[in-house]
Amino acid sequence: MRTPIVAGNWKMNKTVEGSLQLIAELLPLLQDTAGVEVVLCPPFTSLWAAHQALRGAPVGLGGQDMHWEFSGAYTGEVSAEMLLTCGCRYIILGHSERRAYFSETDETVNRKLLASLKIGLIPIVCVGETLQERQGNVTQQVVRQQVRGAFTGVEPADVSRVIVAYEPVWAIGTGLTATPAQAQEVHAFIRALLSESYGTAAAASVRIQYGGSVKPENAGELFAQPDIDGGLIGGASLQAGPFAAIVKATVNVSREA
Ligand code: PGA
Repeated sequence: MRTPIVAGNWKMNKTVEGSLQLIAELLPLLQDTAGVEVVLCPPFTSLWAAHQALRGAPVGLGGQDMHWEFSGAYTGEVSAEMLLTCGCRYIILGHSERRAYFSETDETVNRKLLASLKIGLIPIVCVGETLQERQGNVTQQVVRQQVRGAFTGVEPADVSRVIVAYEPVWAIGTGLTATPAQAQEVHAFIRALLSESYGTAAAASVRIQYGGSVKPENAGELFAQPDIDGGLIGGASLQAGPFAAIVKATVNVSREA
């Protein structure tokens, strides 16, 4: 059974005070959400405060990026252990903004993914094509390369711990959403790719989130697709009401694995 997972990627938004305020608004709205895993990914500076505020709540905490080395002379970077001991259980890796603006490559995503598994963080690895790539009919090629790159060296026993987020770049923060059918097609393709490498049972246990302009109005239809196991939410996760409504849209969509 795959439990759907909805994660809020706050990106570079919210001070400590703003983070605590959003959490205080959210928690009362996240009652009755059994059956969905809910995760918040605030900026690094808010993690510890968020961890304290979330104590006892059925809400997980995640980082937005990390370094693959465990410590050392890497000015400005944050390690997996630092995140884990700040209360994180999840880590977003390979977000398209990191790929586009901070030189993230399939190779660095892979190193980070292996390091996160080693220390016990649950990676949420992002893949997705640009508009130009979709229009050039190379979506599958691009996604195949990103998925294969990210999973290089991942042991079969660890595959089900990895979460994949399919985020078409053209749908991120643009208000354009993939149609449920467009998203489902790529999600099924990703599951088939994992099946080729790890077998059907392992592939069926991997959660694949959709991300890209998810809103309360389109979440239900997207999450009802057979291979869409929740979402990675950017803009709409910065407000309590819309984020809680998106979480509610995933209740009761657990999948047979
Ligand atoms: P968006 O962002 O919901 O604002 O499109 C999604 C993401 O980047 O994870």
